[in-house]
Amino acid sequence: MNTIYNCAVILIFSVALFAEFKESLALSVHSASLKDNKYRNNILKDLSNSLVRDRVKRSAGSGQDGCKSLQGHESTLKNNTHTYAFNDLSGSVSLAWVGDGTGVLLVLTTFQVPFFMIRLGQSKLYRSEDYGKSFQDITDLINNTFIQSEFGIAIGPENSGKVILTGDLSDGRGSRIFRSQDFGKSFTVTDLPFHPYMQITYNPRDSNILMVISVTYDLWLSEDFGAGWKKIHENVCLVRWGIDNTLFFTTNSNGSCSNRGALDLKKTSDYGKTFKTIGTRIYSFGLSGRFVFASVMTGKGSMRMIHVSVDQGEVWNMAQLPKVGHEQFYSILAANDDMVFMHVDEPGDSGIGTIYVSDDRGIVFSKSLERHLYTTTGGETDFTNVTSLRGVYMTSVISEDGSVQTVVTFDQGGKWRALQKPWNGACDSTAANPNSCNLHIHASYSTSMKLNVPMLPLSEPNAVGLILAHGSVGDAVSVMSPDVYVSDDGGYSWSRALKGPHHYAILDSGGLLVAVEHNPTQPISQIKFSTDEGQCWHVFNFTKEPLYFTGLASEPGARSMNVSLWGYTESMLGQYWVSVTIDFRQLLSRDCEESDYVQWLAHSDDISKPTDGCILGYKEKFLRLRKDSVCWNGRDYIVTKQPTPCPCTLDDFQCDFGYYRAENSSECVEEPDLKGHVLEFCLHGRKEQLQTSGYRKIPGDRCEGGTMPERKEIDLSRNCVSNLMRPELLTEANSMSSASIIAVVITVLLVSAVTGVLLIKKYVCGGRFLVHRYSVLQQHAEANGIEGVDELDQHATECSKIQYHDDSDEDLLE
Ligand SMILES: *[C@@H]1O[C@H](CO)[C@@H](O)[C@H](O)[C@H]1NC(C)=O
Ligand SMILES: *[C@@H]1O[C@H](CO)[C@@H](O)[C@H](O)[C@H]1NC(C)=O
Ligand SMILES: *[C@@H]1O[C@H](CO)[C@@H](O)[C@H](O)[C@H]1NC(C)=O
Ligand SMILES: *[C@@H]1O[C@H](CO)[C@@H](O)[C@H](O)[C@H]1NC(C)=O
Ligand SMILES: *[C@@H]1O[C@H](CO)[C@@H](O)[C@H](O)[C@H]1NC(C)=O
Ligand SMILES: *[C@@H]1O[C@H](CO)[C@@H](O)[C@H](O)[C@H]1NC(C)=O
Ligand SMILES: *[C@@H]1O[C@H](CO)[C@@H](O)[C@H](O)[C@H]1NC(C)=O
Repeated sequence: MNTIYNCAVILIFSVALFAEFKESLALSVHSASLKDNKYRNNILKDLSNSLVRDRVKRSAGSGQDGCKSLQGHESTLKNNTHTYAFNDLSGSVSLAWVGDGTGVLLVLTTFQVPFFMIRLGQSKLYRSEDYGKSFQDITDLINNTFIQSEFGIAIGPENSGKVILTGDLSDGRGSRIFRSQDFGKSFTVTDLPFHPYMQITYNPRDSNILMVISVTYDLWLSEDFGAGWKKIHENVCLVRWGIDNTLFFTTNSNGSCSNRGALDLKKTSDYGKTFKTIGTRIYSFGLSGRFVFASVMTGKGSMRMIHVSVDQGEVWNMAQLPKVGHEQFYSILAANDDMVFMHVDEPGDSGIGTIYVSDDRGIVFSKSLERHLYTTTGGETDFTNVTSLRGVYMTSVISEDGSVQTVVTFDQGGKWRALQKPWNGACDSTAANPNSCNLHIHASYSTSMKLNVPMLPLSEPNAVGLILAHGSVGDAVSVMSPDVYVSDDGGYSWSRALKGPHHYAILDSGGLLVAVEHNPTQPISQIKFSTDEGQCWHVFNFTKEPLYFTGLASEPGARSMNVSLWGYTESMLGQYWVSVTIDFRQLLSRDCEESDYVQWLAHSDDISKPTDGCILGYKEKFLRLRKDSVCWNGRDYIVTKQPTPCPCTLDDFQCDFGYYRAENSSECVEEPDLKGHVLEFCLHGRKEQLQTSGYRKIPGDRCEGGTMPERKEIDLSRNCVSNLMRPELLTEANSMSSASIIAVVITVLLVSAVTGVLLIKKYVCGGRFLVHRYSVLQQHAEANGIEGVDELDQHATECSKIQYHDDSDEDLLE
């Protein structure tokens, strides 16, 4: 059975290493101030502290000491439990939410058997308008056509209500799509003059504009939501939507996308009427935030380097990152409009690399974390953006002894440290000292190692400070069965919430958590829920007929009160899908009032210090729900926060190009060996960028006043008077307007003899799309139509790697 994995994978490219460069990066790591070991079990102290939110007595496990039971929840929930049995025996089921807050859910079941070279398959389509409580079989709307489930259900951006299903015509002339503009109520069938090679992708800013690459590498575009299609370019390898309706794509005039390093990067801003070549000798490219990255072959050998543009490819700068050879890879871990986290793989098959954080131009990178785990073979990284608190990211490093350990940063990569031991967790056998150890989080790497970890760490922007994750307590990530841990302060302090692996979901902006035990061999009938951020758990027996549970589904955005449990039961005929939807609205019957919220200062450990809570130049006070309040935040709940700027310190700045931070000092000093290596360090582009005082504010930092670094403008362009600007190397003379000078520098350097291979990748998984299979719930994948599937990017498609393999329980479970 196919699983649907619509993951956006961005880049594959490479760079090279030269010693001086590395050194300068190593020295210019910025370190912002950090608090140590916050909240070390000081719950009582917190209680007396009016700024820190009240805590009720914590308790582990479900419903014991200190946890009051919720009166009558059993009968209330029983009245609000809706079971729907699907009358088909299909092998996989895909879910997609259509629109926000509409309650519309489309469910596609597919069943197929490989039969000689063709696939025989059957699809059924169901639609719900009440968050999954009931379904209508609408298979006749797609005329019983078999839907190619690997292309998924393409949901339009925003609340457009647009849906596209790609049908499979085994007779091979073309493809057929089913289009809906009314949230899946009705479908129009359209025959395509080509076979799509990827999921049809919406322009994120205009859902009527669609694009797709065909199996013959032609780029097709539709401006009327798929009714009419025109071929706008041939030999297209990788395509992405940029901002302002721009399409970026790589192409090879010789028609071979495998000829990496010889591709042209083009863009069109008028839907294919005119094209502009903005780069040649391209290995791959990626778009992130306002940055365009391209890996460009250097003049010599197989080394590649990254160029970056912040104006949609008009002017390029050389990123101050190591070059890589063909066996290394290079990955955008996370990026927003301010900055980028970039992973650069080490040479050799070590599975580790270095994380760099960029400045606001994407040019100067500071070394952030070494020995970062990122497997070369599987492309697994544990890097996680903790979206519930600004500046917090978690990932894993491999220590010298080969063990995997979790580290966290609270200041956007400035400083990393181990997670604090949960106050109610005991060190396991991996700990050398039974009293001193740390929490380690299980994420993608553990999943790839087939550990019993059904879900990745979970956080939501509207559930402030809350993180749910599987973990173990010791000196390293343990292979033993993990427990579920919760943090309510963005990762500073943790507590064990549930014993053993669970599926979990955040509802009502954090006001309600639900969890279901992960047990693929035993049918289950219980759901656990917590109204106090995971301290006390209540149990509800939701069914009399236990089901083999495959996963939880709730509307993305964590505002819902409805959660569905998906699974199957066995009958005489075989297995059939069941969905049980529980509406918790009656349980939290009261709307939250002002008195239900308390003020909470994020990143705080000592309110007497004036800089307490300052991260990236400002502190934020939030209004958060009291733990003991059992009430409904509501769908329209918005996070109330009060930011106040902090005075600047040198730690709010990073060293600019040509400067580095001397060891144990916050001061940036001019690079002494710049003289001999001017060429490597020169930036290209506008002259003013070369004037620097040595300091640059860390991206996103909003400090005011305080210590302002001395301004001594140095015009580095004087040092850069070489003939490095050689546009002809990157530009196709005839296709460029004279206004766009694409400066590409091919550094002919004394490159160290290291020649490896590297790829660059980024995935955006998680979102509105879920696939369930019997026995296994895969992690969900994004299909919001903004980022499509880059199946061309074979090396990088972590997600396509698991796209076609057979349905076997062994895949994820052991
Ligand atoms: C549940 O529904 C039954 C029948 O509709 C009703 O008698 C009972 O009072 C309801 N219970 C609750 C707690 O709402
Ligand atoms: C469904 O398919 C049948 C046979 O292929 C065809 O005659 C009929 O017109 C189709 N109906 C629709 C709504 O596409
Ligand atoms: C295209 O192919 C021709 C001949 O097959 C070759 O001479 C030329 O170098 C190729 N160009 C590129 C960009 O690969
Ligand atoms: C991390 O997530 C937060 C919340 O969604 C977002 O605002 C921020 O830009 C993300 N950081 C990066 C580097 O992508
Ligand atoms: C729920 O089910 C468990 C066993 O599955 C049973 O021990 C427990 O008594 C049930 N609780 C209620 C309230 O029915
Ligand atoms: C739960 O589902 C019902 C429809 O059955 C809907 O009216 C309600 O708004 C949903 N609740 C939330 C919080 O989404
Ligand atoms: C920097 O600090 C560390 C630890 O405090 C110390 O071991 C090291 O010698 C210092 N380095 C310099 C150059 O002062």
